[in-house]
Amino acid sequence: MAEQKSIHGLWRSRWLFILAATGSAVGLGNIWKFPYITGENGGGAFVLVYLACIAIIGIPVMIAEVSLGRMGRQSPINTMQAISKDQKANPFWGSIGWMGALSGFFILSFYSVIAGWALAYVFRMAGGAFDGATPAQAGEIFSGLISNPEVLLAWHTIFMVITIAIVARGVNKGLERAISIMMPLLFLILVVLLGYSMNTDGFAEGFSFLFSFDFSKITGESLMVALGHAFFTLSLGMGAIMAYGAYMPANTSVGKTVLTVAALDTIIALVAGLVIFPVVFSNGMEAAAGPGLLFQTLPVAFSQIPAGTFFGTLFFILVGFAALSSAISLGEPVVAWAVEAKGVSRATAATWLGIIIWLLGIGTVLSFNLWSEYTLFGKTFFDTLDFLTANIMLPLGGLLIAVFVGWKMRSQDVAAEVRMQNPVVYNVWKLILQFIAPLAIAAVLINGLI
Ligand code: PFF
Repeated sequence: MAEQKSIHGLWRSRWLFILAATGSAVGLGNIWKFPYITGENGGGAFVLVYLACIAIIGIPVMIAEVSLGRMGRQSPINTMQAISKDQKANPFWGSIGWMGALSGFFILSFYSVIAGWALAYVFRMAGGAFDGATPAQAGEIFSGLISNPEVLLAWHTIFMVITIAIVARGVNKGLERAISIMMPLLFLILVVLLGYSMNTDGFAEGFSFLFSFDFSKITGESLMVALGHAFFTLSLGMGAIMAYGAYMPANTSVGKTVLTVAALDTIIALVAGLVIFPVVFSNGMEAAAGPGLLFQTLPVAFSQIPAGTFFGTLFFILVGFAALSSAISLGEPVVAWAVEAKGVSRATAATWLGIIIWLLGIGTVLSFNLWSEYTLFGKTFFDTLDFLTANIMLPLGGLLIAVFVGWKMRSQDVAAEVRMQNPVVYNVWKLILQFIAPLAIAAVLINGLI
């Protein structure tokens, strides 16, 4: 395909791409979701399967996705259509971008509600609600929050408005700078918390919960959750990272860049786990507490450390920022598409996207209170969206991308775009895309669904 140009701008350097992609990858998935699904799925063995999924499937698929984005230099929807036409593939392959867009809508709708919890906690923390709080009191404050639909709706609205405002302004202005300050700060504060958790009585137990492997706890469903989470946490399978790849400078190595992003993402998730589980075990709390885990454990930790109110407030602000930098990448693919295809302004596109997603988010708001009794196969509205996107749609998106790059594209075009210098590494990567990733994803999906 002839060299393409992006109409949306480019990241100013390879580092800014790394920062933006890390901003997309690191979010609620690392700090909120990873610990609670690890708790629900029995700990260490689950962590090991998740790490294997990142290394063997996630990283190769991420390289493929970023490369496709950079080759097409448009929104994922148009990129997939243009490349599949150029490669003379069946038009079906051009439609992958559409499925991704739908996943993005679904994910952002519940992501915004949970990010709203973090925003609500900024004020609860700062107001001293958790000063000297026992685990039981922290649990009550959390249940009080999620049982109140008006409050959840208000925070969901605020988070969506901020997200839309940033997407509307484009990625270069503001976002690059905000992430470069916030991400290191978030990491730093996690390390401070790690220092605290290492000194609790529960550290050894927390550590061995995360890193000792009891494979009897692995079921078909937990395999599916681990694989799905590898996709979710790396922002794969729906076009977010493809959209960011479209703004990547031409002369950078995709492989090394992706490895850096994946490593940072993994480290942050593991540190979050090492902070949370010791607090759980030192205070006799429940590891399988579900989505409330982060919000019930950390306030207890903060209530026990010097200047805990300050650190706690800062922590939830940073969680809000981590969520925001991911939310932007969830909205970007569709906004970029609307700008390209409909000729509307970014602001118009972002506003419409925001309204639709905001409406859908109301379902998640209500699933924690008024609608908590309405379930489908035992899952609430929120659980259903989460399961459908992370555990089915994203892995399926990844499978299709792997097959497309592995089988449907001309080898010389693929090689020219990824530019891996080491032929062994290149061949292993290609082999994974052709055989290992599709077969493993298909096996896990089929096994998990049965
Ligand atoms: N990777 C983000 C997280 O871990 O919180 C969530 C996410 C962002 C998922 C973008 C998918 C996506 F396309």
